Amino acid sequence: MIKVLFVCLGNICRSPLAEAVFNHLAKQRGLQDRLSCDSAGTSTYHIGEPPDERTFEVAEKNGLTLNHLGRQIRADDFQEFDYILAMDESNYRDILQFAKNRGVKLRDGRVVKLRKFENSGANLDVPDPYYGGMRGFDQVYDILNRSITGFLDYLEEHDLKKE
Ligand code: 4NP
Repeated sequence: MIKVLFVCLGNICRSPLAEAVFNHLAKQRGLQDRLSCDSAGTSTYHIGEPPDERTFEVAEKNGLTLNHLGRQIRADDFQEFDYILAMDESNYRDILQFAKNRGVKLRDGRVVKLRKFENSGANLDVPDPYYGGMRGFDQVYDILNRSITGFLDYLEEHDLKKE
């Protein structure tokens, strides 16, 4: 089983939507028994809260189900998950700092920015939609679909081939 953790700042917009997109696309490929995922935030802002209403709206519009309550990333996650995927540069830095502060040793390639799997060659972020309108959430959904498709291609080509 390959385990993936999606991480953003608040764990109520981008990363719970990423989870739902991942589960949906994994199921389409018949990989649901070989992959699992969860999500977390770098902050404590929304611990225990359901996703943002706009996250629910974009999920529903695209036939996705959300089933998550906000939680913060924890030291155990670095042992439990094969991939910890950051939505943006600041999440990425915070995750590395979090690991460093707790003396966690990171395997190469365990913490990655999700959009790396779009293979555009650019260092792109999944933009934070929290302070904008619905359009930003639609854009996040499109980006997640693209980047997670690339990530699943990568897993099928690498990790899943070896299992
Ligand atoms: P997320 O979006 O990191 O995609 O869940 C945000 C949610 C909440 C806040 C910022 C970003 N906030 O500042 O409360």
